[in-house]
Amino acid sequence: MKKIMDLIAEELAEAFEAAGYDKAYAKVTLSNRPDLCEYQCNGAMAGAKAYRKAPIMIANEVSDRLRGSQCLEEVSAVNPGFINMKLKKEYVADYLNRMIADEELGLEKTEKPKTVIVDYGGANVAKPLHVGHLRSAIIGEGIKRLAKKMGHKVLGDIHLGDWGYQMGLIITELRERKPKLPYFQEDYSGEYPKEAPFTIGELEEIYPTASGKAKEDEEYRREALEATRLLQNGHKGYRAVWRHIMDVSVEDLKKNYESLNVHFDLWKGESDAQDYIPDMIERMEREGYAHIDDGALVIDVQQETDTKEIPPCMIRKSDGASLYGTTDLATLIQRMQDYDPDQIIYLADKRQDLHFLQVFRAARMTGIVPEKTRLEFLGFGTMNGKDGKPFKTRDGGVMRLENLIAEIVDEMLKKIAENRTVDQEEADQTAKIVGMSAIKYGDLSNQASKDYVFDVDRFTSFEGNTGPYILYTIVRIKSILNKYQAEGKSLDDVRAEPAHDDNEKALMLEVMKYNDVMETAFEELALHKICAYIYDLANTFNRFYHETKILAEEDETKQKGYIALLVLTKRALEACIDVLGFEAPERM
Ligand code: ARG
Repeated sequence: MKKIMDLIAEELAEAFEAAGYDKAYAKVTLSNRPDLCEYQCNGAMAGAKAYRKAPIMIANEVSDRLRGSQCLEEVSAVNPGFINMKLKKEYVADYLNRMIADEELGLEKTEKPKTVIVDYGGANVAKPLHVGHLRSAIIGEGIKRLAKKMGHKVLGDIHLGDWGYQMGLIITELRERKPKLPYFQEDYSGEYPKEAPFTIGELEEIYPTASGKAKEDEEYRREALEATRLLQNGHKGYRAVWRHIMDVSVEDLKKNYESLNVHFDLWKGESDAQDYIPDMIERMEREGYAHIDDGALVIDVQQETDTKEIPPCMIRKSDGASLYGTTDLATLIQRMQDYDPDQIIYLADKRQDLHFLQVFRAARMTGIVPEKTRLEFLGFGTMNGKDGKPFKTRDGGVMRLENLIAEIVDEMLKKIAENRTVDQEEADQTAKIVGMSAIKYGDLSNQASKDYVFDVDRFTSFEGNTGPYILYTIVRIKSILNKYQAEGKSLDDVRAEPAHDDNEKALMLEVMKYNDVMETAFEELALHKICAYIYDLANTFNRFYHETKILAEEDETKQKGYIALLVLTKRALEACIDVLGFEAPERM
């Protein structure tokens, strides 16, 4: 369905032309004076200079031409030259009824589906998921779902950090602890054990221990670097240890992401790019894209128009090892080859923006990625604690994601228990669902690039701009609809009616924005706009709810109109939270 703004703009464009003005001035915006009108056009002011006419004269002439409008009533020209507009009630009801009949609620899928890869999650194998990975997972999942919703072919790839120095560290530490294991016997030629020589718990202790040691002990560090190099060059025993690390770690990661309702289509990682590196490096050298600088192999990416210095993209260290940029470039080769994407969206901490700038430029210059493929880096800010510093546990450690989730769910359970009439099992279940909304909405309602404060008390509140408030509103609607049906009435034949009062009309206008909001959020990769929308929608609904007798309404047609509006509000809210990656319980 066409967006309501576009429908108004079409009529407005005709009116501008009929009055002898350029239709380019026919721009519509939401009213910034909702007490006076619903939509407005400021084009008369913009055109005044070109036509050397007082804006109010233009506004009057255009308004006159809108008298017979299909969708507008009460068009008025207001000093100094605003055109104020209200939608006809019948037109609104008709639009809403078309929304009800449409499975997608009036959202038009793209006519040209693109193949989009969303590179998010970015977990590093053998290191526990911590809060720093939370944002990538939450935002990435939302972007992926939104792109799918718009009709694109989307692949979410976790792009595991599974090949670097941390692997060498773990191998070194394991070898020190259990030197007798076959992986470390150079003359061993049998099969390696199927069972990993460690549990996930041990693995998570081994890594920080090894990392700490390497910082203190230069010899240990050199060993770990050597182990990394040997692993990358195909050392049989080390590869087998690596496989164990992967298996144990990935299983744990899957569990964790699952509990966040985050699902990847591809579980590829840095290691998958390795096969592409030798040829890539060889070509970069042969075709003159890369040159040796201080022993390292680099690609210059500075451009004439740059106002600051952009350091070259390093693709091979002086000791021969590859780097973060190398894997990202090689991964691009693999992605172009396997999926030929039209767009790749990367999610990572915004402090990685220089890295992505270098990689993107190098990829373009060297022809790894053609012009037609859009590369986008969506850098996010830091999640801070109430003290304004990066979020930590009470004793100052890195907060494990699992513990963070558990803390929120606990808090939720306490709140639910306060006014609880449900049994323990349902309460637990509900606390999980509502807790997820608290975490995700708390994150997504901020512009991604900004830092934000993770405030457990605020995020879990049932009032204010929070996930639980949105869910509470949906549950309220569900409960009314259930009661309505319990009276033996059906939801199938409800139809929106021309609004009976201002509260009802306001809610209708909010519901109608749905397709516009989704489209804009996708174009701008701005999930916070969906949050802002559902907050407005929930508020507008609650105002309507408090002023309207719905179930007690005796006029059947009128009541059906109300119920239709409730059904639409619920569907719009649910569609939005589904994109954001959470859901509503039946009761709370
Ligand atoms: N593993 C990286 C980190 O923890 C994030 C990966 C982001 N994606 C990428 N293709 N570089 O910082």
